[in-house]
Amino acid sequence: MNKKTCLVTGCAGFIGSHLTHRLLDLGHSVVGVDNLSSGYVHNMSGFLDHPDFKFHEVSVAEEGLLESLKEAYPALDVIFHLAAIVSVPYSIEVPELTMAVNFEATKRMLESSASLGLSTFVFAGSAAEYGNEGRLPVREEYATDEVVPLSPYGVAKYKSSSLIEKSGYGCSLRFFNIFGPRQDPTSQYSGVISRFVDFGLAGKNMVIFGDGTQSRDFLYVSDVVDSYLIAAGLDLEGRGPLTGIYNVGTGHGISVLQLAETVSKLTSAPSEIVFKPERAGDIKHSRADISKISAVGFSSSVSFEEGLKKTIEWAKSCK
Ligand SMILES: NC(=O)c1ccc[n+]([C@@H]2O[C@H](COP(=O)([O-])OP(=O)(O)OC[C@H]3O[C@@H](n4cnc5c(N)ncnc54)[C@H](O)[C@@H]3O)[C@@H](O)[C@H]2O)c1
Repeated sequence: MNKKTCLVTGCAGFIGSHLTHRLLDLGHSVVGVDNLSSGYVHNMSGFLDHPDFKFHEVSVAEEGLLESLKEAYPALDVIFHLAAIVSVPYSIEVPELTMAVNFEATKRMLESSASLGLSTFVFAGSAAEYGNEGRLPVREEYATDEVVPLSPYGVAKYKSSSLIEKSGYGCSLRFFNIFGPRQDPTSQYSGVISRFVDFGLAGKNMVIFGDGTQSRDFLYVSDVVDSYLIAAGLDLEGRGPLTGIYNVGTGHGISVLQLAETVSKLTSAPSEIVFKPERAGDIKHSRADISKISAVGFSSSVSFEEGLKKTIEWAKSCK
């Protein structure tokens, strides 16, 4: 396979650091951009000194960013755009900033990427684009202009994905709930697994809001990286590249109670689970219809329990 020069925005974040690591392992060069607003330099410790990695601490909202990077790195050919305000509650507090970072900057980068002739642009979409969708499993076409996402975060992701689809250039991967090492347990965003692991290792009781029957589609981070490689046409088995919008998940729902019980078992935490009143606005069930991405050969390869074990091992190593 041709070695590529890739831009990874959000390279100091949870998913971006895993993606960058894999790209470098495969022999590609990576230009990483991050403003360290929710990411950490220590997430990049495995590759910060790699000769084929160049880091720029800068915001993706900076005008002309892609043009100046292309001038500095003429071989730049593939963009993985992950940088975003990722906290849903924070996006509600700062809707204008969220639109500027999560939508306007994406639009600018997408347009520049196409006009500079880069081969593709891969965007991190989200299940939040579906709002409070009751039909399960959730299909890509359920997100429409009539559906109102529940937060500025969801709106910005939906507008970005729609723009990509209409442009016919690049793709948006709509991720459901991702977990794995380096996910920030203090993050307010989809951090239920990392929070439970943190409680479990501290020997604290797990707290569930509601009766625990609410369910999510949890995908392990290395499977997410596989989907990125397919999307960009960098997959070793020759799957991809992709154009348009694709759900990325396992297609299976795991209840929060099942999650809490599995984490207690694996961490030998107290098995008593504390139930608190349901939180307003929480979606009851979320599960991806993955027929579209399955048709190009993607399937998750790490089981839920195996992924949890790896996440727990990592969390222990950080203590
Ligand atoms: N984790 C999940 O379950 C999940 C689910 C769906 C979608 N996503 C999307 O995947 C992407 C990565 O998420 P993550 O879980 O790794 O979160 P993360 O917070 O660990 O990573 C996001 C990174 O973007 C950086 N960033 C934020 N604003 C920036 C800006 N203006 N300029 C440059 N860098 C900036 C942060 O510092 C951070 O390193 C995000 O776009 C997120 O919306 C994540």
